[in-house]
Amino acid sequence: MHLILEVIKGRRSVVRFKPRPITDEELSLILEAGRWAPSYANSQPWTFVVVRDEEKKRKLGELVERMLILRPGRVALSAPGLGDPAVVIAVAVDTLKDPDHHVEAGAAATQNMALMAHALGLASFWAGIYGTPVEREVRRILGLPKGMRVVSLLPIGEAAYEAKSERVELSQLVRYEKF
Ligand SMILES: Cc1cc2nc3c(=O)[nH]c(=O)nc-3n(C[C@H](O)[C@H](O)[C@H](O)COP(=O)(O)O)c2cc1C
Repeated sequence: MHLILEVIKGRRSVVRFKPRPITDEELSLILEAGRWAPSYANSQPWTFVVVRDEEKKRKLGELVERMLILRPGRVALSAPGLGDPAVVIAVAVDTLKDPDHHVEAGAAATQNMALMAHALGLASFWAGIYGTPVEREVRRILGLPKGMRVVSLLPIGEAAYEAKSERVELSQLVRYEKF
């Protein structure tokens, strides 16, 4: 399989992490992957807020937990908050720099970072925050200025379990020439 497809297919959303720190080198590779995401007119409207402080991570973890859709087969959290991610990266975007496409830009950066984390043997969980009831609280905790929104929170760490997910068959997703 092509290397990039292997990374894309291997990434899973994980909500519990082993307590192992992330190295500075791993963190900077992940942030670098975010930096090279595409954005409308190359506006690069993002700021990546890196949270390593335990108390802040706990608060953000509780908010992420509120966002969890617990389905059959999905791992339920045994304790409040996320199980100890080494770092949480908040993807904030400047709506003035990019009024029309800041969400897509933040999403592209989030995915780049999730893939890079996976390629490094780490796991992540994309919590979609934009426009949700918890976004305001995240903005307050992180001290975001006016005009900045939060697209996602991305806890990253070593996975504490093996997550599984499936996808709809390509034959059901693709039409040719017309819908
Ligand atoms: C934009 C976006 C927002 C998401 N927000 C949530 C969320 O609020 N709660 C949640 O349980 N999962 C969330 N997820 C994770 C998805 O549930 C997960 O990606 C999906 O079930 C597929 O699983 P996988 O990532 O392990 O392949 C989000 C994913 C994306 C792309």
